[in-house]
Amino acid sequence: MPHPTWPFFNLAIRTPMVELRPVDEALGVQLALLADRGIHPRGEMPFCVPWTDIDPPERYWASMQFYWRCWGSFTAQDWHLPFATLVDGEVVGMQEVAATGFVDLGVIRTGSWIGQEFQGRGIGREQRAAVLHFAFDSLGARRAESAANHDNPASLGVSRSLGYRENGDRWSKTDGYPPVRQVDLVLDREAWEPQRRDDIVVTGAAATLPLFGLA
Ligand SMILES: CC(C)(COP(=O)(O)OP(=O)(O)OC[C@H]1O[C@@H](n2cnc3c(N)ncnc32)[C@H](O)[C@@H]1OP(=O)(O)O)[C@@H](O)C(=O)NCCC(=O)NCCS
Repeated sequence: MPHPTWPFFNLAIRTPMVELRPVDEALGVQLALLADRGIHPRGEMPFCVPWTDIDPPERYWASMQFYWRCWGSFTAQDWHLPFATLVDGEVVGMQEVAATGFVDLGVIRTGSWIGQEFQGRGIGREQRAAVLHFAFDSLGARRAESAANHDNPASLGVSRSLGYRENGDRWSKTDGYPPVRQVDLVLDREAWEPQRRDDIVVTGAAATLPLFGLA
């Protein structure tokens, strides 16, 4: 049954490999439990916030609060849209798209993770391609931005294989870890258009557009 009051819960992005659904409470639980099985080796930290170092139940609380906060603080000026990624009905990872001042700038940024057991099979690339299709095709974005630590070949690999270009770097510091050089990447609409796919289907987007401040 369609969700009667919150249009995001009727949104879906489907590719031949993955389905992306905005994170509702049930998907939030599944993502929290997937994270229990590992996202990266202990001692490494690919994220700006070291949330994977927290043990349950505190990590569960923080994750649920993060997803609730995304919905609770969603405005056209500043939004975070977290998707759960499913393969054959199983939750395998998370793909977020976010923006500040999107109506004026048309720029989105992304962040993501895949359960360690599902990594290296092309799912990370596919979920990013799916969310890029939503951003460029459904929302009319001008540019997608991403960033990854210089020593994160998988994340850099996703961006490079989707045609992003490097756009400089900067130093970044995650609590409890040494500073690290982060590589900035951008994919402009002109670079995305030639690789536009016709096998990615977005449903339920129209009802969400007013929440993005889009007609
Ligand atoms: C980053 C992440 C989402 C990528 O997803 P994935 O499913 O593992 O990646 P894919 O299998 O889709 O690979 C994408 C590309 O990167 C390349 N790649 C993947 N892992 C790689 C590695 N360890 N070394 C070099 N290249 C790699 C692949 O060959 C592929 O390139 P191609 O399409 O040209 O063949 C996933 O590895 C992950 O969750 N890592 C831990 C959390 C994290 O780093 N999040 C991102 C923070 S910026």
